[in-house]
Amino acid sequence: APAPDPVITEVQDWNRTLGDGVQARPYGKPSAFEKDVVRRDVEWLTASRESSVNFTPLHALDGIITPSGLCFERHHGGVAEIDPAKHRLMINGLVDKPMVFTLDDLKRFPGRVNRAYFLECAANSGMEWRGAQLNGCQFTHGMVHNVWYSGIPLKTLLDEAGLRGNAKWLLAEGADASGMTRSIPLDKALRDCLVVWGMNGEMLRPEQGYPLRLVVPGWEGNMWIKWLRRIEVGDQPWHHREETSKYTDLLADGRSRRFTFIMDAKSVVTNPSPQAPLRQKGPNVLTGLAWSGRGAIRRVDVSLDGGRNWRTARIDGPVMSMSLTRFYVDFDWDGREMMIQSRAMDETGYVQPTKDELRKVRGTNSIYHNNGIQTWLVRSNGETENVEIG
Ligand code: MTE
Ligand code: CO
Repeated sequence: APAPDPVITEVQDWNRTLGDGVQARPYGKPSAFEKDVVRRDVEWLTASRESSVNFTPLHALDGIITPSGLCFERHHGGVAEIDPAKHRLMINGLVDKPMVFTLDDLKRFPGRVNRAYFLECAANSGMEWRGAQLNGCQFTHGMVHNVWYSGIPLKTLLDEAGLRGNAKWLLAEGADASGMTRSIPLDKALRDCLVVWGMNGEMLRPEQGYPLRLVVPGWEGNMWIKWLRRIEVGDQPWHHREETSKYTDLLADGRSRRFTFIMDAKSVVTNPSPQAPLRQKGPNVLTGLAWSGRGAIRRVDVSLDGGRNWRTARIDGPVMSMSLTRFYVDFDWDGREMMIQSRAMDETGYVQPTKDELRKVRGTNSIYHNNGIQTWLVRSNGETENVEIG
């Protein structure tokens, strides 16, 4: 007979003494045993308050919704701690009636909506352009999150103010110390942009723009202005810093791609991955995430041998347009070395490219819009590394 398991045979503390009563935690927190599941930064990457970023622990999550407290953060001037009573949203420029709204005004508008969308920073995977670098999908792919937003279509507010005939672009402006601004084409604003105050059923977290944020589905995260305080309507883009020197893609011949708003289809295997190695031979669950700024994910293929053979992954959970989509491959591991890859296809038929295919078109100067296929090398002891197949 096997040795008795003390976890079963000995009475544990939690079985012997009373636990806390209900009001010990008026706002609940995760178990103390989950203390390693946190947003993390990379020391040598921008870590000053003028420009800071941390990463979603994708390897420790499942399903498609990112818990509010684990959504990666990207701030160009730190977190603005705004008193909602002192916050206003102004709409001005090429409108019939310039308007100012309080948060309470916005909450009284008819037509409130709830939508789940991914937000991906254009710089996600940017450190991987020239080769494999950071060890963990948290760091290579963790500038993405996916939450439920509650708010109203931006169109509702623009209709209220009345667009002038020559209106073509909007400038969205944040109230934080960076005074972040981005130009947004009017047709996108009218199609599906939202002004939101809610996130996963509660108010936005300060890190995500409390009390108001702009949602720009499928487009680069930089345009999703947090702490939104003003929308100016104009007839052309403003050419501000974030759309000239930043968030443009320098090509090999010295020209730059600009206004590259859409985040193309992308995927990553989150388990196994460097922070979540394989622990046992036999049955294992491979899982990951796929998303596309052009619509819904139609299919995800997974290779265990560096792209030679592919099998179609099983998608589970809702498949929503411009939202993270969860996939699984249930497989038996015999202990052999594997080169794991995933490849997403969206409803437009667009297929996620290899990193080499991307570099052929875009050169090696880029940071933004790296949606190339990721490779994880799983060694025979289960340890997993970020590699590239040359
Ligand atoms: N909005 C304001 N006002 N200030 C900012 O620094 N950062 C932008 C965007 N909106 C930013 C902002 C960038 S680069 C990204 S990727 C997203 O917000 C990050 O959103 P998150 O912090 O919710 O992840
Ligand atoms: Co960004």
